[in-house]
Amino acid sequence: MTYEDAIKALSSDALKLVRDNYVVGLGSGRAATELVKSLSKLIKLKNYNVVGVPTSLQIKLIAEKGGIPLVEADQVKYIDVVFDGADQIDSQKYVIKGGGGALLRENILFSLAKKIVVMADKTKFVKSFTRTVPVEIHPLARNSVAKSIEKMGGEVQIRSLERGYPFFTENGNIVLDCNFGTIKNPKSLTQKIKQTTGVLESGIFLRKPDIVYKAKDNGKFDII
Ligand code: A5P
Repeated sequence: MTYEDAIKALSSDALKLVRDNYVVGLGSGRAATELVKSLSKLIKLKNYNVVGVPTSLQIKLIAEKGGIPLVEADQVKYIDVVFDGADQIDSQKYVIKGGGGALLRENILFSLAKKIVVMADKTKFVKSFTRTVPVEIHPLARNSVAKSIEKMGGEVQIRSLERGYPFFTENGNIVLDCNFGTIKNPKSLTQKIKQTTGVLESGIFLRKPDIVYKAKDNGKFDII
């Protein structure tokens, strides 16, 4: 039994929240991929009239393959439930997202959501955040934002692809991966980051998930 088994098992459990005619937010990444595959089976089995809202082209392709009807975030007034992964989760239930660069669209979905479900493996759970915080910025603001983040105590690195080319998000922006060491006060740090001109989104989301699934490597899971 592995992490993948646990994600499959928790996906089936999490999908009990889905009802006919729901608008469902589809996060990005491995956990979201498993969930979307299971959602596709559920819709067919129950003949549900569900509409999905994707957070990236990555998940859009999975959803399309599974035959899930899709709309974009600007076509809905609310989302019944969003299912997404996370890069780190602290003891206050704040999440860091954006490892795959989909943070802006993911956070737009969080802001439309009636309910948010986050799914992650147990290695991602920490007392206080320790990993880098992805910050999506306008490319022309790279120096000004970097200067501001350094003043906040962060070490800044422009995200790049394997051969050194800069990584561009689906929104045409770039991502700064910012190392703040251990983050004791994620809320105030995020407020400062988001106030900086040129910042489109911070990877620490201020809206906390309603339900968190922790996948364990024995194929089982906990609900937090
Ligand atoms: C995408 O930008 C991220 O926020 C992902 O949701 C996050 O990286 C989790 O992905 P995995 O489920 O692949 O770990």
